[in-house]
Amino acid sequence: MTAPVGHNLLPGTAAVDGRGRLSIGGVDLLDLAAEIGTPAFVYDEAHLRARCREAVGAFGAGNVAYASKAFLCRAMAQLAHEEGMHVDVATGGELYVALAAGVPPVSLVLHGSNKSEDELRRAVDLGVRIVVDSFAELDRLEEIGGRAKVLVRITPGVEAHTHEYVMTGQVDSKFGFGLASGEARRAVERARHSPATELVGVHAHIGSQIFITSSFEKAVDALAEFVLAADVPELCLGGGLGVPYVAGEEAPSITEWAETLKAACKAAAITARVTAEPGRAIVAAAGVTLYRVGTIKDVPSVRTYVSVDGGMSDNPRPVLYGSGYEAFLPRAAGAERPRRVTIVGKHCESGDVVVRDACVPADLAIGDVLCTPVTGAYGHSMASNYNKVPRPPVVFVRDGNARVVVRRETFDDLLRLDA
Ligand code: LLP
Repeated sequence: MTAPVGHNLLPGTAAVDGRGRLSIGGVDLLDLAAEIGTPAFVYDEAHLRARCREAVGAFGAGNVAYASKAFLCRAMAQLAHEEGMHVDVATGGELYVALAAGVPPVSLVLHGSNKSEDELRRAVDLGVRIVVDSFAELDRLEEIGGRAKVLVRITPGVEAHTHEYVMTGQVDSKFGFGLASGEARRAVERARHSPATELVGVHAHIGSQIFITSSFEKAVDALAEFVLAADVPELCLGGGLGVPYVAGEEAPSITEWAETLKAACKAAAITARVTAEPGRAIVAAAGVTLYRVGTIKDVPSVRTYVSVDGGMSDNPRPVLYGSGYEAFLPRAAGAERPRRVTIVGKHCESGDVVVRDACVPADLAIGDVLCTPVTGAYGHSMASNYNKVPRPPVVFVRDGNARVVVRRETFDDLLRLDA
């Protein structure tokens, strides 16, 4: 076995055998595709566990929550919990799945800019910590009664260098209490004195897919005076660490990111416990998607369309954010990729692009299994049934074994909710 040539995008245990075939977790991807069908999400369990351990090592036990919106099923919540992470949930549904996985309420934190009374009541009853996002939510908590441990979410007024849809720290945001407007100060005072809340910290998440550590330093600078005055035991700096999706991109490691956050806090004389909630950095590179090529259409002198059996229903990120990906053939993972094609899905929509201008081996053909790496975050979790395409299964691979943790949807599942 040799390491795959020319890329660092595949999961940690990816290897190419003497025939050029790609395996992950000791499982040959072509054999796996033949067994479980395509499309399929395949996760390297060792990679997931290594990233969780790195995060817990870097921030300290109890100081890092996995942002479950990136990818959630019971197996993932269990894994994060086993590896010592807390779990961040953003809705009653995520809370339900995390609890069903056996994550104890003390290891959960509830987010959301519009939490319902039911969601809040459940969190209060269970003793789940709550990141408070608005005055309306503080009203609701007071109506519910009880005493919730809360962090107050601040928008620091920092614009991170990322896609506008995933920026959250700027003044013009639906999230949190503005710093400059004085709302943040009023929220902290209210949470401190309300009988319904015990103020345990301040929270700020500036956005996602951020590569530049100075964006995080800027957020700490912007928050420092406020955090010192608030004198709270915890400062949660959210998630948002970027990951490379295509060849040539590089991102700080979780450890480097943690060092940056902690150093910035130290420099600002912040003594509060520094905590974080990474999502993508834990799961993105652990996962790949397997598709099968069904149709190849050449538009002479323009482009070649390679159609696969999934698309925007299992990965809406290219359509939503213009995100780029790479593509590899598991039968020839180390091969040169001199041919340019556009990989598209099977949906009835021209925007249904999986990889624009993908580099692929010259002999790519109908029937080939194709693998897109770094699809472990916000693929399965944002998947849909558009065009009534059943959602793919999720398989965890480890030490030569493949374990289906979410089964493939069936056509019957498509009728399950019809009244
Ligand atoms: N904490 C909070 C409060 C968040 O809102 C988020 C992400 C995270 C943590 C985790 O961020 P991460 O470490 O994964 O960047 N669908 C988009 C990403 C939306 C992220 C929303 N909030 C995408 O596919 O890029």
